[in-house]
Amino acid sequence: MIEKIQEFIEIIQQNILLKNFVKLTISDKKDKTDEVKSIIIKHIEIKKGEQMSFVYRYQTKDITKNFAPEEALELISELLLKDYNQANLSTTEFDYHFWTRGKKSGIKTKKTDKIVQVQLFHDKLKNRIIEPENNFYLQKLGVTNSLWQIKPNMQDKYKQINKYIEIVDGILKDYPFKQSVSIVDMGSGKGYLTFALYDYFANYLQKKAMITGVEMRANLVEQSNEIAKMCNFKNLHFIEGSIQEAKTPDYNVLIALHACDTATDDAIAQGIKNNAEVIICAPCCHKQLRPQIKPDNILREITKFGILLERQSEMLTDTIRGLMLEAHGYKTNIFEFIETIHTPKNVMIVATKRQKPLQNKAYYLEQIQELKNLFGIENHYLENLLK
Ligand SMILES: C[S@@+](CC[C@H](N)C(=O)[O-])C[C@H]1O[C@@H](n2cnc3c(N)ncnc32)[C@H](O)[C@@H]1O
Repeated sequence: MIEKIQEFIEIIQQNILLKNFVKLTISDKKDKTDEVKSIIIKHIEIKKGEQMSFVYRYQTKDITKNFAPEEALELISELLLKDYNQANLSTTEFDYHFWTRGKKSGIKTKKTDKIVQVQLFHDKLKNRIIEPENNFYLQKLGVTNSLWQIKPNMQDKYKQINKYIEIVDGILKDYPFKQSVSIVDMGSGKGYLTFALYDYFANYLQKKAMITGVEMRANLVEQSNEIAKMCNFKNLHFIEGSIQEAKTPDYNVLIALHACDTATDDAIAQGIKNNAEVIICAPCCHKQLRPQIKPDNILREITKFGILLERQSEMLTDTIRGLMLEAHGYKTNIFEFIETIHTPKNVMIVATKRQKPLQNKAYYLEQIQELKNLFGIENHYLENLLK
């Protein structure tokens, strides 16, 4: 058997070298109870250079890992020796079927009946952490169709999901958490971003994270929990309740994306009160300050125009949020996270708890007061929550 495996590995190696390798499917697992049912291997080219991309297929999800060709050949050889009975190799000219039964094994070869071109698809892997192919929750959430393709009306959502995960990657990947990662997603809605976040931790980083979505709409909570179960996402849960009062597990990261109007303030206040190490918010519909804005100074020349009043109100609301976070010991950054053509709700507030206790809380509170005086504002909702 070892000789046949060696012969098969040489065929694979030859085809990788000649760029004729189309696909290798390893199947018929000896241990039928194992969760990985088969492995599909493709030859790809990414920034790192040529790689063999292994897609480990589970019942309801796929996990992808890339290996350098030499390492991949060793791995394939081991898999055929110990774990699997079959492998089908498609190349541009021939199809090879490798089999083992007990101690016997063989290789059948036939001329391929299809015209296949090898594509070392550079574009496909470009900066996409969340892949649509074989991604069960994206299909269940209606982002992809039955062929795993992004639906035309979901292109923006898909782009937004990946952009958001890219940003989270930059913030959380190497964050020196004091304890294991536990994240709450306040106002999780349909859960697009909550699922993607779980997928990112479990499958991309391969790091344990407990993730809890909080949502007041019971039907969405029920649906999200069902999908999480189908995907075998064991540490992903959704609970029905309000941002202000939901009984969440302890957490060190709080996320609130597009939580409407003052729900963003409720989320920030919860994060501060629970001493979250990281708070990430993408606010939306800033209604609370707008009716209060009545400057008795030159700013009235700006706020007399509806659209400019709207923009001032947004800027002021988020500035005060940022200052409140600073006043409570968070280093805060506010930036645009996706182009406005994909969504108008595109500002992100990211706050990370400072290691040293803050000396100048009074300074930030004075800045808030100065802004309020300038715009003629009585109260900011977040300020009241943190009194
Ligand atoms: C615009 S959706 C955003 C969903 C998701 N975070 C996203 O970005 O795709 C806002 C969600 O927050 C929920 N929500 C708003 N206020 C809430 C509150 N006080 N408590 C719990 N959920 C809330 C709404 O029901 C809605 O599903």
